[in-house]
Amino acid sequence: MQTIPQDTKNADNPLLESATISTQQTLEQQDARTDRNFDTIADHFEKKVYGGLKGEIRLAVLRRDIFEYSAKMSEKLGRPLRILDVGAGLAQISIELATQGHSLVINDISANMLEKAKVSAAQIDKALDITWYVCPYQDLEDKLNKDKSSNGAKFDLILSHALLEWLAEPAMVMNFFDRQLANHGAISLCFYNPASFDYRNLIMGNFNLLDNTDYKADNKKSLTPNHPVAKEEVDAWLAAHHYQTVLTSGLRVFHDYAPLKRGGHNHPDAVVRMELRYSQLEPYKWLGRYLHVMATR
Ligand SMILES: C[S@@+](CC[C@H](N)C(=O)[O-])C[C@H]1O[C@@H](n2cnc3c(N)ncnc32)[C@H](O)[C@@H]1O
Repeated sequence: MQTIPQDTKNADNPLLESATISTQQTLEQQDARTDRNFDTIADHFEKKVYGGLKGEIRLAVLRRDIFEYSAKMSEKLGRPLRILDVGAGLAQISIELATQGHSLVINDISANMLEKAKVSAAQIDKALDITWYVCPYQDLEDKLNKDKSSNGAKFDLILSHALLEWLAEPAMVMNFFDRQLANHGAISLCFYNPASFDYRNLIMGNFNLLDNTDYKADNKKSLTPNHPVAKEEVDAWLAAHHYQTVLTSGLRVFHDYAPLKRGGHNHPDAVVRMELRYSQLEPYKWLGRYLHVMATR
């Protein structure tokens, strides 16, 4: 059965117009939610998200957080890691992890996204240990069980980046992690931060969007997710599933908020350097457009 996500904004403010929507109507809308396959927006995503500085910042923060952690874990275990990337998209980070010698399982519901990732992997002048699965992550366990070569081994590290906010039932991914993660393993969870939507619209003066609690990006190509999950909710899931957070970072903590690109903003390397520095500093990191949490059980 489909879980009904909390719309905390509506629940907190009974005076808001949208609170008058009948429960029946709300249930119907939520029933219509499906996971978002990126097949039709693969090119758009590649260009908009990874065609410029935004993508460079995202990758720089994730590389720093994940590679340091995975190198230590691999050293401790005395072997390459078995790593899973769900909703991998263009899979830049996991292809780099494979290049470092780890064994990767790369998954996405979108064949077009993984085609692009395969092209990048093929350009690397080294044999990579990557198994590709085009399917919803919900079907992955069946396929992994049928793959005799994996011997049912669990994963040392599971990456889930910018996936939660595109799922109909995001909380369910935690059960999947519980089943697929080795006892000593870690998850790397990166998700869109809804607080950043509010803060950016405050700065840009888009008060109409903030007053409209029923706001939905209606453009089919929009990369602003309609169902983001708040940090507090993710924290509650992690606690309920007995995870301890080992690291949190904010991604793009100032880059997207500057309407006027002046001074240091004109120097991409300096922007990345400052984003890296402030990504781990309170209170700035909590306003990142995305948050990255690494956690172990
Ligand atoms: C915003 S993209 C993120 C891609 C990549 N992880 C990144 O951070 O750049 C979200 C991806 O999740 C995929 N996706 C959506 N629902 C999925 C599901 N149920 N199982 C696997 N992948 C899914 C989409 O096709 C898309 O490629």
